[in-house]
Amino acid sequence: MTASASSNSNKILCGVVGDPIAHSLSPKIHAAFGKQFNLDLAYHKYQVSSDNFSHFVMDFFAQGGRGLNVTLPHKAAACKIAKNVSEDAKLCQSVNTLWRDRLGMICGDSTDGAGFLLDLERLQFSIHKKNILVVGAGGAAKSIIYSLLIQDANLSVQNRTLEKIIQLQNIFSKVGKISAFETEQPIFDGIICALSEFNQPLYEKVISSLKKDAFVYDLNYAGRAQQTLNYFKQQGFSRISDGYGMLCGQAAKSFEIWHGVLPEVECRA
Ligand code: ATR
Repeated sequence: MTASASSNSNKILCGVVGDPIAHSLSPKIHAAFGKQFNLDLAYHKYQVSSDNFSHFVMDFFAQGGRGLNVTLPHKAAACKIAKNVSEDAKLCQSVNTLWRDRLGMICGDSTDGAGFLLDLERLQFSIHKKNILVVGAGGAAKSIIYSLLIQDANLSVQNRTLEKIIQLQNIFSKVGKISAFETEQPIFDGIICALSEFNQPLYEKVISSLKKDAFVYDLNYAGRAQQTLNYFKQQGFSRISDGYGMLCGQAAKSFEIWHGVLPEVECRA
């Protein structure tokens, strides 16, 4: 789909681009935010292949589009297209939000980390100077590590593949320290689950290192978080959340960049 195919000159044009994109909840979330401020918003889903991504972005902004969310598989390409990129996004080579500044220059940011922090605030899970364990070392983990480090969390990572932890240590070496998980002591105040597939043996390796009242946060949401959250419930943990609030939080932060106002984030329980 081209940007012009669904633009409407009276409306503020925004959208999300990915491949696939049918599953995206972003149009619903942004429509709800737009209502809070009476914005006449058109927020569309654009299914665009990697070959056409760069052309699509240029066309979208040339047609007067205000903001684009970017999802898989285009986050790294978006980072290359943007001329002005936040430090967080540059380190991760991953951009989920594009817009143009007053000079017309395309700018990029990753709002996942900020959305994550917004959700932890909502849940009253404090990470400042706390011992935090991240399980997983892929794209999802990478997207929130900068935020954990700038909050001065003492960060450990557990992952099936050690090399991925070393990659994270290298990427974030100038921001803060990341330890590979090794303790047997119950020192962790919180665990962030960042696996794309539930793996009970991996969680069994770390569970005795969590404090009894540790919070558990899965970056996945809805059905994809269910097995993990059930497992931790069965183990007696009660401060538990999936990542739906983070999804809304990252959308809110994109919305703020484009429209200059931060919406209230309401999350279903
Ligand atoms: P995402 O962007 O969703 O994080 P990813 O970059 O593919 O996806 O990373 C997936 C994460 O889940 C990785 O930490 C991966 O572990 P490896 O680095 O060892 O591949 C982890 N993961 C995926 N499937 C897993 C499984 N069955 N058991 C354990 N870890 C798994």
